[in-house]
Amino acid sequence: MTIIYAGDLILRAVEKADAPRFAFLCNDESLARFTSRVPHPYTLEYARDFVEKAAQELEHEGEYRFAVCRDGEIIACTGVTPGEHGVFDLGYWVGADYREKGVASAAASAVITFLFERYGARRITAGHFVDNPASGHILEKLGFRPTGKTKQLMSKARGVEVETILFALEKVDFRKSLSIRFAP
Ligand SMILES: CC(C)(COP(=O)(O)OP(=O)(O)OC[C@H]1O[C@@H](n2cnc3c(N)ncnc32)[C@H](O)[C@@H]1OP(=O)(O)O)[C@@H](O)C(=O)NCCC(=O)NCCS
Repeated sequence: MTIIYAGDLILRAVEKADAPRFAFLCNDESLARFTSRVPHPYTLEYARDFVEKAAQELEHEGEYRFAVCRDGEIIACTGVTPGEHGVFDLGYWVGADYREKGVASAAASAVITFLFERYGARRITAGHFVDNPASGHILEKLGFRPTGKTKQLMSKARGVEVETILFALEKVDFRKSLSIRFAP
């Protein structure tokens, strides 16, 4: 799978050996509660399941889970899920010790560049829970616009549905924040 270089970050495929690190980073209520899929508490078993599925999903076109690494260590994760007609849905989280330093903005920018430039994406969608304005700020900085729609999305960690604000990004609106390289 393509490796993406974005400043001091390297985005690479999730590997089976990453399970303990994912278990450590994800067993964090402040992370899980703002995602739909991460349960809390989060065990090594969940992490093993996640990395297995991430490897299988690679075989399906357009389904990517990137480990976001700095100095050889995973600090964040971002993933895309393909929809119909060149539309991809974006998600991300950053480990608690690495927040408020531009990691999510840079990692999202890197994956969006990859999808538009390498994958022929037409539109990227994303959403955030109504009580997570930092994520909305990141999306708007990148050029996403609110679609005016919301949906109720299940949060595994909270055990309830949470109102989710939906956004979409067209290629012409993308505000790339840093230079990105790919290999191969
Ligand atoms: C939300 C999250 C991804 C942000 O990651 P991060 O690496 O800290 O994000 P960045 O540093 O790139 O950007 C954060 C931006 O939000 C802004 N911000 C922080 N708190 C905010 C708030 N309450 N309201 C509005 N903006 C806020 C910051 O000022 C910063 O903007 P700036 O770069 O213009 O100064 C991270 O906190 C996280 O992983 N949270 C738990 C999981 C999650 O929420 N995932 C996203 C699901 S949609």
